[in-house]
Amino acid sequence: MILRKFQFSDLEEIASLESRAFDVGPYDVRELQAIFEMEGSFNYVAVDTESGRISGYVVACGISDSVCDVESIAVDPDFQGKGVGRDLLFAIEREMAARGFAVSVLEVREKNDKAISFYSKNGYSLTESVVNYYREHLKGSRNALRMTKRL
Ligand SMILES: CC(C)(COP(=O)(O)OP(=O)(O)OC[C@H]1O[C@@H](n2cnc3c(N)ncnc32)[C@H](O)[C@@H]1OP(=O)(O)O)[C@@H](O)C(=O)NCCC(=O)NCCS
Repeated sequence: MILRKFQFSDLEEIASLESRAFDVGPYDVRELQAIFEMEGSFNYVAVDTESGRISGYVVACGISDSVCDVESIAVDPDFQGKGVGRDLLFAIEREMAARGFAVSVLEVREKNDKAISFYSKNGYSLTESVVNYYREHLKGSRNALRMTKRL
């Protein structure tokens, strides 16, 4: 696997990955383009060297001088559980630190047990609950948990 920066020509493949990775509320091409092109954002795309397929992506964006938000992270179901998510998260955290941020923050659906466990294992702690953060329900909930990690 290699990690590289996003290219415009990745959009369709990432949108397809996104729709397979998320049961509820995947970003479409237009939303993904807006996230990747957000001012101050930076990203990594993971490419499986054997198949040439994009296996995952992550985008982060500073929200203050010291805090950076993980806007989106997803790994294709075909490549989950192989350390791709961890490598993406560590790469974006390294870049956050290099850019001078002190804290990484993210929001995750309160019913997304797998992602919550993934973030906990990778050093994130629960800081608050955000009611009705999402538009669509997942298992009857629109609430998010906010998790943070000191870099
Ligand atoms: C959450 C998500 C990004 C995690 O990515 P991932 O690539 O599956 O995560 P990792 O492989 O790095 O870690 C997951 C597990 O694999 C294990 N693992 C790590 N390296 C491994 C390896 N080389 N071989 C096998 N397993 C490995 C980890 O220990 C971890 O163990 P667990 O299953 O007991 O939790 C991914 O599941 C995903 O995209 N989910 C859907 C979208 C989503 O919910 N995104 C987050 C929104 S907030």
